[in-house]
Amino acid sequence: MTGADQAIGGDLGQRAGQATASCVVNGVETVLEGGLAEPATGFLRRLGLYGVRETCSLGVCGTCTILLDGEPVSACILPLYALDGREVRTVEGLESEGQLSTLQRQFICSQAFQCSFCTPGFLLSAQALLDATEGPLTDEQVVEGLQGHLCRCGCYESVKEAVRAVAARRQESDADGAQPTTGPQDAGRAAP
Ligand code: FES
Ligand code: FES
Repeated sequence: MTGADQAIGGDLGQRAGQATASCVVNGVETVLEGGLAEPATGFLRRLGLYGVRETCSLGVCGTCTILLDGEPVSACILPLYALDGREVRTVEGLESEGQLSTLQRQFICSQAFQCSFCTPGFLLSAQALLDATEGPLTDEQVVEGLQGHLCRCGCYESVKEAVRAVAARRQESDADGAQPTTGPQDAGRAAP
């Protein structure tokens, strides 16, 4: 436990006489266990959610992004207690019944990553952007929606193509969602 944890009350899940703190992680009710002021990244990784990655630990690179009630937040600067009663989604929660989401498959088809360290954060913010909008997206909308995400490999153009490709085809898709295009060139053509 850190000094900060002690200052604001100790450990979650270990306080006698208080209701157990919990949140829903990727659809599963989960008891919060750890120091109150501990960053949420450590707790989520202890759950085996290794898609939650940490680089700067300062809230500036976007690598550690999770969705909190559908909104992208930096987990590295999010105290554990802030998850209480909330709904958390990590990149592991994008797939369904073992199948990658349309967006994840489009990232693969568009080659929208190299080392992939930043990719979970990009995917989650891109999903939030898609969830909050309808129809095709402009370059400017995608750039604005993904601002704050840094990629050391410089995959920004292919990420933008992937998100735009999914957005462009969602109107035409059936209930199961659009199918990914087969490569960066196809993804570009799919945009309006
Ligand atoms: S690791 Fe959290 S924003 Fe960089
Ligand atoms: S793909 Fe390597 S840091 Fe983004």
